[in-house]
Amino acid sequence: MSTDLLITHASQLLTIPAHDHGPQRGDRLGDLAIIADGALAVSDGAIVALGPTTDLAAQYPAARIIDAGGRVVMPGFVDPHTHVVFAGDRANEFERRIAGATYMELMNAGGGIMSTVRATRAASVEELVAQTRARLDRMLAHGTTTAEVKTGYGLETAAELKMLDAITRLAAEHPIDLVPTFLGAHAIPAEYKGREDEYTALVANEMLPALASQPPTASRPLPFVDVFCEDGAFTLDQTRRILEKAQALGFALKIHVDEFEPLGGTRLGVELGAISVDHVVTTPAEEIELLGRSDTIAVSLPGTPFGLAQHAYTPARAILAAGGALALATDINPGTTWNESLQLIVALACRYLQLTQAQALAAATINAAYAIGRGEAIGSLEVGKQADVLIMDVSDYRAIGYRYGTNLVQTVIKHGKMIETGFLPVR
Ligand code: NIG
Ligand code: FE
Repeated sequence: MSTDLLITHASQLLTIPAHDHGPQRGDRLGDLAIIADGALAVSDGAIVALGPTTDLAAQYPAARIIDAGGRVVMPGFVDPHTHVVFAGDRANEFERRIAGATYMELMNAGGGIMSTVRATRAASVEELVAQTRARLDRMLAHGTTTAEVKTGYGLETAAELKMLDAITRLAAEHPIDLVPTFLGAHAIPAEYKGREDEYTALVANEMLPALASQPPTASRPLPFVDVFCEDGAFTLDQTRRILEKAQALGFALKIHVDEFEPLGGTRLGVELGAISVDHVVTTPAEEIELLGRSDTIAVSLPGTPFGLAQHAYTPARAILAAGGALALATDINPGTTWNESLQLIVALACRYLQLTQAQALAAATINAAYAIGRGEAIGSLEVGKQADVLIMDVSDYRAIGYRYGTNLVQTVIKHGKMIETGFLPVR
């Protein structure tokens, strides 16, 4: 059988398989299913065979052969939680935080998310696309081949729809596959201060129906619906009102829970069958038990406490001990953590979540794919899946997470095509 592309001589080909058509759960997290001196054949953008180089080289003559030269070959990283579309920056707030101001103090003083909302409302869709494109380029260069992207810096119907428009345009032009999430409930906008329930009703009764009235297409899939359930953002009750309405309209759900204060968001996410609950830092033990028994995936964002110089991280080991499914994401945003690299997130997870390199890699690939509903198509190197593949410039996968601060990606292959990222030498 002739193929388009054959990758040969991976020192370790990490396949990182799905388990029973689902994420790797509990103590089974970290199953890399390594093929030594591995090879992978691609046809029409999909993986058609995997195995030892000696077997595949004979069976699959290819138009193009990439010799991995004894490097690690693995699935493209999947980033299941980003706020990558925004205008402007908050370097000034970072300077104030160094001087002692807290994230919530800045937010309550009219800065924080609201300062990015002002910049994003003022930006044209073209400006949003241009600013975001540069970030997506850096994400791709660092090995991210699919990313979830949230709205949430518009906080009024037209500006939220403008953000979705930017996501749709970027999805059409950029090699990274983008999966949209509507986060109209990211903050109470300043003009609704003291009228929080009114804004909640606006999200539930105007924004969600406006979204639901646009039938999904291949280039504009139905978004997930997410709420920031937190003191100073949305109460548990307001979160429930929005998510129950979203569910009734046919949307799948996500929730920002337990980033600072435990309000019961994890329990609510499990009750409503949310696809993921995200942050999961201050979650009480009994809610971790519920989560562990559910199909809801815990998406941990260790870049956020790191970016805020806080010391509490997701209790990953407790989640795994409860049998839960854990994924990792960057949470890239201008307030708490502007970081495009999932390699850094893997390094943080190894240290502060005490994951092994193998567990962190599975959490940032196959489990991340299931956290955005794409686990059947991406996230692992398995026959039939999309050929989103990384060649890492290391010979042992345990270097990933151990080493950090430089980009270890040598080559990105997206949908079977080698990508010229602008950062990588293309041979
Ligand atoms: O996930 N938690 C809420 N949203 C972001 C922060 C967004 C911002 O500060 O602009 C987060 O950390
Ligand atoms: Fe977030």
